[in-house]
This record gives sequence, C-alpha cells and structure tokens, in this order.
Amino acid sequence: MANGDELITLKNIASHCKEYGFIYPSSEIYDGLSATYDYGPNGSELKNNIKDYWWKAMVRMNENIVGIDAAIFMHPTTWKASGHVDAFNDPLIDNKDSKKRYRADVLIEDQIAKIQGKIDKEVSKAAKRFGDAFDQEQFLNTNERVLKYQSQISEIEEKLKASMGSGNLKAMKDLIDELEIADPVSGSRNWTDVRQFNLMFSTELGSVADESGKIYLRPETAQGIFVNYLNVQKTSRMKLPFGIAQIGKAFRNEIIARQFIFRMREFEQMEMQFFIQPGSEKEWYEHWKEKRMRWHKALGLGDDRYRFHDHLNLAHYANAACDIEFNFPMGFKELEGIHSRTNFDLGSHEKFSGKKLQYFDNNTNESYVPYVLETSIGLDRMFLAVMSAAYQEEKLEDGSERTVLKIPPVLAPNKVAVLPLVDKDGLPEKALKIMDDIKFDFNAIYEAKDSIGKRYRRQDAIGTPYCVTIDNETMEDDSVTIRDRDTMQQERVSIAELKDRLRDKTDLNKLLRSI
Ligand code: GAP
Repeated sequence: MANGDELITLKNIASHCKEYGFIYPSSEIYDGLSATYDYGPNGSELKNNIKDYWWKAMVRMNENIVGIDAAIFMHPTTWKASGHVDAFNDPLIDNKDSKKRYRADVLIEDQIAKIQGKIDKEVSKAAKRFGDAFDQEQFLNTNERVLKYQSQISEIEEKLKASMGSGNLKAMKDLIDELEIADPVSGSRNWTDVRQFNLMFSTELGSVADESGKIYLRPETAQGIFVNYLNVQKTSRMKLPFGIAQIGKAFRNEIIARQFIFRMREFEQMEMQFFIQPGSEKEWYEHWKEKRMRWHKALGLGDDRYRFHDHLNLAHYANAACDIEFNFPMGFKELEGIHSRTNFDLGSHEKFSGKKLQYFDNNTNESYVPYVLETSIGLDRMFLAVMSAAYQEEKLEDGSERTVLKIPPVLAPNKVAVLPLVDKDGLPEKALKIMDDIKFDFNAIYEAKDSIGKRYRRQDAIGTPYCVTIDNETMEDDSVTIRDRDTMQQERVSIAELKDRLRDKTDLNKLLRSI
C-alpha cells in the first residue's frame, strides 16, 4: 500500500525496477522477449545478496549440508527417470479465432477469480451501507447473493480438481464450455480441445539433429543433486541425515508467463535435498517447514505476509507437500515449496541407470535408498517478494512525496552512499578518502552531483540504508552526518566510529545468528 490507502501494483514495481537499474526486459532494443528479464547493476547486487543469505543459512550454518554446482545439461535419461518427459505437462487450449494460447486450468481459475470479485464488491457495498456496525463475517455467512457465489466457486473448484487429478482433459474442456468462458482478448468461445503440453525446452547435442541427440534444459536444479548423491556422500564423507544445496538456472516453457518476474521461462532456483532414513520424513517435513519460515520472517518483511498452503494435488514424486505463500501485489502466491519426495527420484535413477544408489546405515546394519525432503525457492520470486514489501510511496510531513525501497539493510544493493555536500572546497577529496577505506567492508556508492536533497531521494529510491554526508565541519573535526533511510533522521558521528555504525543494521552475520 502507498500511504496506507493506494494499492501498489506490479506495474509500479516493474517500472521502478527499470528506471533504477534493477531489472530490464531482456533484449529490449528488439522489443524484448516475453517472460525473460535481465538484472541491472542494482538488481544483480540484490540478487547476489539474497543468494548469499540463503547459501550461508543453508550451507554454512548447517554442518551436515554441503553445496554443489551441477551442469544445466544432463543425460536425457535423467528426465525420463524423474518423470518429467511423461508428466511435466500443463493443459493447453487454443482459441480458434484469436489464435491465442491459454492454460485451460488458468482460464477456469480466472473465472473463479471473477466470481470472487463479485463477492468482494458485495462486501464493500455493504461495508459502506452499514458503516461501523458492519460485521463482515456475518455478512459472508448470511447474505444470499454471496452464498450463491460461494457455492458456484466450490462447485467449479471441485470439478477442476477432479479433472486435473485424473488427467481428464475432456472434462476440463466441458467445464470451459459449461462456464461459457470467452477468450479474454477476442471474446470468442471457439475453442480447440484441451491438450497436454510438456514444459521442458529441448535442443540437440553437438551435430546430431535427430531424436537420439535430443537433450533438455533442466526444468529444476534438483536432478543435478540426485544424480550426484553418491559422489557427494562418499567424497564429503556424509552420514544420514545430510543435505546437498544448489543455486542455479532452470528453464520452463510456461504457456502463459506473466506477472513480471513471478513466472519466467528462464529463472533461478535455490534448492536443497535433505537425505533421510525412510520413516523419518514426517518429522523432517515439519522441521524444514518451520526452519524455512523462520528464515523468511527474520528478514522483517512482515510476518502477516506469509502463510502455509498444503498441496491437495500432490506431484508424481511427493507424499506430502506445501508452499510458503507470500502476499504479493496480486495476492497470496507460492514463493517456496517444501516437498517430501520419498525415495521416488533416487529409486527411479537406480532403475534407469542400473547403478546402486544405496546408503549403508552403520546404526541399523542395512542398506537402503534414502528418502528425500526438499526445500525449493525461486530466487527471482524471492526478489519480487522483497521488492513488493520494500516499495513504498510516502507523503512526508512537509507535503512532499518520496518513493523509497525499504529493502532489509542486509540485502540492500548498496549499504551506504558517500556524499560531499558540495562538489568543491576539498570535500570530494575527503569523501573519496572515506570511500577508499569503507569499500572493503561495505558496498558503497559515491555521488557528488545535484543538490543533497535530490541525492537523498535517489538513494531512497534504490534502497540505500545509510547516506553519509561530508561537509565543512568534517574538514575541521573529522565528523560526518549519517542519515537513516527509513526514519530520515540525521546524526553526527566521528569518522572513527562510522564503520561500527554502518555495521549495526547491515551485518548479515548478526541476522544469521538470530535465526
Ligand atoms: N524441485 C521442485 C520444484 O522445482 P516447483 O514448485 O516446480 O518445485 C520451486 O518450483 C520454486 O521455483 C517455486 O516455488 C517458485 O519459487 C520457483 N519457480 C517455479 N517456476 C517458476 C517460474 N516459471 N518462474 C519463476 N520462478 C519459478
């Protein structure tokens, strides 16, 4: 929200990201490529800081988790074994008139959202009518029109769930016809049948251009961990339970890729597979749910922005799964998945490769294929979560306005801006001397042009937690002013104590100790 009343939209965030060097549309001079984005100078710093926070919390803070960096290309049988060749599909439908392609389930979900919109309208009308006496819960439970809409939603949801669960594409098409869903672009109801569409991108290896040379761009980083499970276990001398973590690119040919960096065709994942004894999966599932939620909340983006959402339709590999959802500008959506993957992947790789992937348990004197508990978060989605909470348009007491990114200081692209009050009288030289000293400890930025007010606003807009100003007094007593981004308060401190002050809020180790 801006000023507590105006809604911040994804559009606001996307255009701010572009203007201030966080994210640009990919190959923009050729009008861009849909659902691919490039990270600019501030964006790549923020992305690196998020990676650092995740990697340190997972790998450095846990002596039984180690990291790897596997190749994007993998032997094609990997994807047969993982189930992605046969089951990594989305239901697709084309409109014969507009030639536009949609995800059938999303068209139905959008229809549900429309009905939900009608309920929301009824609620806001009633709230206006009844004023302070309005009891929303009672209204939702008793108003006839609302009850009718709610029962429509339940009926559609049930039919959608049944058709998705059984892979009944005809039932999905029938539901689209029954709901009289029209193409959002052309208004036409002239639809093809629903077909399955595999989301993996493929290419050819070397000079072989037939099926035998077909390889895939990995749609998840997890398989690079599974196929290396024994290598890592042996070379790192790991004993169960232990984890392998990885950060890397993944690719999915999403049918509809929209909502800025929420759903991309090329994105990055931060995944950790935790190998455990069969039968202990329930306990570890709860453990990692709690641990990952603590990691999120420690950033201070607001505890009420997170919730768990249990999966009702489990993926082919899981016996329990949930999402950590985040309240993005378009509502609560998946940010991270926590999946109990059983021994599906390792068992399947054993079968397809003919190689044993067993663990010999010294405690029980038996060999078995370990079970796996997975935590999987999209780096770009995490970036969007941070931006969604950080972006604020504020009206100040003097009537002026500012756009500020209240990025958690540990993640901010630049920790401090060093600003000579004027670009003369020896102030720039003094400021650059301070820069030269602090740049080894902090990502610092130097700016001498424009009025100091303008420079403060620019630093607010890129989320710099501290501005340090060098003025004439500095030349006399080696003191500077330090301005806090969030409170806009300024304080005079000596140069000697500057680093300690900057470390106060920006120290990642301090945050890691607190979780
Ligand atoms: N290895 C399990 C796995 O890949 P997933 O739920 O398909 O599970 C995990 O993906 C996370 O990856 C999601 O929670 C999301 O944050 C991110 N993600 C998935 N598809 C994405 C896309 N098209 N664009 C951006 N992030 C995506």
